[in-house]
Amino acid sequence: MSDDKSIYEQIGGEAAMNVAVEDFYRRVLSDEELAPFFDDIDMDRQIDKQKAFLTMVTGGPNQYTGRDMKSAHAVVVAKGATDRHVDLVIKHLAETLASLDVPANLIEQIGAVAESVRDDVLGRK
Ligand code: HEM
Repeated sequence: MSDDKSIYEQIGGEAAMNVAVEDFYRRVLSDEELAPFFDDIDMDRQIDKQKAFLTMVTGGPNQYTGRDMKSAHAVVVAKGATDRHVDLVIKHLAETLASLDVPANLIEQIGAVAESVRDDVLGRK
């Protein structure tokens, strides 16, 4: 069903995004396949960048000042990231949203947004 509100507004705006991204990184850091990629990363900064990125790509205010997905993840690819890791990231994002009672159709749309940057993240385009 269509809705003229952005995905960002439909999940609950800034408050929901804050809770979601924090929960998402707790899941990522608890995943032994993903955690090593974040060993040297300032997670407060990472969380802020991810909030701004997901806000922008879900139709909220654009305050993203981070790098493009290819540049940001060059180091990640150099450390061996593959489709498997992108799959895990998308899975954790979907599980986070489900745990916050975000409706399935919105989880699907947000998953599609994450899927759309797969090739950039992995340096394939
Ligand atoms: C699939 C969708 C993904 C999205 C939307 C995403 C989003 C982001 C964003 C917005 C940043 C901040 C960019 C900046 O610092 O300027 C970032 C950085 C980072 N991402 Fe991702 N990411 C994804 C997948 C992954 C995967 C699969 C991994 C690990 C295997 C990963 C690991 C990292 C790391 C380690 C950084 C920090 C890089 C640095 O500061 O040097 N990301 N990501």
